[in-house]
Amino acid sequence: MPWPARENRPLSRELDLRSGLEAGGAPVMWERAVRSLLPGMQELVPRGSEVLEIGYGDGLLSCYLHQRLGWRILGLDVSEEAHRSAQENASRFGLEDGLEFRCCSPDAVWSTRGSYDAVFIKTVLYSSRSFDEYRTWLDWVFSVLKPGGVFVNFETGRANSLTQIYRRLRGRSYTDLCLYTGEIERLYNVRFEIIERRYFGGLSQFFAPLPTLYSIASKVEEEMRRRDADNSFIVAMICRRPTGDGAPTVEIEGPPARDGA
Ligand SMILES: C[S@@+](CC[C@H](N)C(=O)[O-])C[C@H]1O[C@@H](n2cnc3c(N)ncnc32)[C@H](O)[C@@H]1O
Repeated sequence: MPWPARENRPLSRELDLRSGLEAGGAPVMWERAVRSLLPGMQELVPRGSEVLEIGYGDGLLSCYLHQRLGWRILGLDVSEEAHRSAQENASRFGLEDGLEFRCCSPDAVWSTRGSYDAVFIKTVLYSSRSFDEYRTWLDWVFSVLKPGGVFVNFETGRANSLTQIYRRLRGRSYTDLCLYTGEIERLYNVRFEIIERRYFGGLSQFFAPLPTLYSIASKVEEEMRRRDADNSFIVAMICRRPTGDGAPTVEIEGPPARDGA
């Protein structure tokens, strides 16, 4: 998936969150989700923490997280275009010291070992091609966190059937991939201690291009029906790798076989 650097767009040296979310689309909605977790992220992952980020895209969100929260981030992405773009953005903001972006193969990502203070992922896991692949991702995340380490994750939800029809009509390639559902949620619950989990957007997402209308629609929608894993467009969470005797032992056996592999 291409994440082009938008060289012509003027950016101030102090990055705002919205700029870091534009490449992924629907920045108004995502801003609401990311902003809601910022206090928890700040508290649980203090300045100077060593953070591993998977799928950094254009790297602008990583730049924002480094500037705003003081995280030292090592990013891994499989796209050369993303790598170029992220490096350009880091140097444009003079942030090369606290950010390292690497481009590597999917196998190299999963071969990465470590004991990080935190792992940060936004909208990567939903593109898993099977439930097994999703499970392996979470096992791997668990394995690279130190005991008590924090996993901050934002994912796209399957949401309601209207959303799925819309995605099909728009030819969205990810429609039938592993978008977040209650079934996927259980994979998190058995591995991690869930510190904070928030759900955003049902039908209100269709108003996202009109911020005022979106804000009203999302409030009305939340009053009408509780958002959950099976009816939301965005799931935002902070989890922790448990410490002590109760912690599950997770063995990484490597990625499940890909089609044609
Ligand atoms: C939808 S984009 C999200 C980018 C960024 N996190 C954001 O929200 O703006 C998904 C990113 O994940 C990367 N990606 C896909 N599969 C990956 C993998 N197995 N390991 C690391 N990165 C991957 C893609 O190259 C792309 O940059």
